Amino acid sequence: MSGLKLWGTGSGVPSEILTNEGFAKLVDTSDEWITTRTGISSRRRCAPGETHTGLCLAAARQAMERAGVSPDQIGVCVVATLTPDRLTPATACVLQKELGLEEDTVCFDLNAACSGFVYALHTAQCLLAAATRKFGLVIGAEVLSRVTDYTDRGTCVLFGDGAGAAVLEWREDYPSIHAVLGCRGNTENLLIPGVAVGVPSYIHMDGQPVFRFAVETVPQCITQVLERAGLGVEDVDRFVFHQANQRIIDMAVKKLNLPPEKCTGNIDHTGNTSAASVPLLLDELVRDGAVRRGQRVLCVGFGGGLTWAGALLELA
Ligand code: COA
Repeated sequence: MSGLKLWGTGSGVPSEILTNEGFAKLVDTSDEWITTRTGISSRRRCAPGETHTGLCLAAARQAMERAGVSPDQIGVCVVATLTPDRLTPATACVLQKELGLEEDTVCFDLNAACSGFVYALHTAQCLLAAATRKFGLVIGAEVLSRVTDYTDRGTCVLFGDGAGAAVLEWREDYPSIHAVLGCRGNTENLLIPGVAVGVPSYIHMDGQPVFRFAVETVPQCITQVLERAGLGVEDVDRFVFHQANQRIIDMAVKKLNLPPEKCTGNIDHTGNTSAASVPLLLDELVRDGAVRRGQRVLCVGFGGGLTWAGALLELA
């Protein structure tokens, strides 16, 4: 047996709050439509001067402080994102300098869209097994407002900005996270064209096929993680879903007969923050005392790629 335990979490939260009422002034929509179709009431957006790197730094510093881990104990730093400040250097490289991580720390960014944080957890587990320093810093961060078309009512009401961080330790006697990662390549239903097509480059999403994809893969992924770990639903203290749409979460909860009180989220005030969504919720749950030392959390992400990912995390 070998694996990870979670020692600390942190958040980087932008200052601007966009409410549903605010969107009703921008596009043809209403608070009623947005809340009933998605569960979202408000989301955060970076104000001028707030950056992706700044959000990452705030989240990372908080997580390291709460974990009681210093920069020279970190062996791996992975940032999951699809909206970094620059294509290169990677955000993780900038963090190496700003946080004072050692120069032999493995630092890079990873893009698995909304599954990115869970992909990064698995990546960190693999890399830390071979590293000399056994603490890892894993961050999910997005400034989706950069790629949001605020004239498209079908997408603009869904997305928010933010960053969440986790400090993890790898040890021989810690449990594996039993990650299940998957991908079904699709360049049609959910994409951001990016530099290949020029700017501006906005999120394009066909909501219904993505919805169906999520409703199919999320319960499957949770079941596979539990099977791999040899655990049942009752052995998990909390399910941390990617916050894309409350209706997707409700359907997964119903399908797997999960206790709803173990599945509460924060989509009402975050919206969909892609790779930041799982670690932001994790941090909120830790801060609220909803998950505590020794408890087991099952994280599940899904989204662009199309990708999905699930993993178990135990709090140290
Ligand atoms: N306000 C008001 N009406 C809106 C609207 C908005 N913000 N956005 C879309 N509509 C309209 C559509 O134009 C459509 O109108 P029409 O019937 O006159 O053509 C109607 O609402 C229904 O649109 P539809 O796309 O079928 O709605 P939906 O119930 O599927 O909800 C999503 C749309 C995007 C909320 C939903 O499909 C979804 O959440 N999909 C998955 C998204 C997801 O998980 N993405 C991220 C993965 S990381």
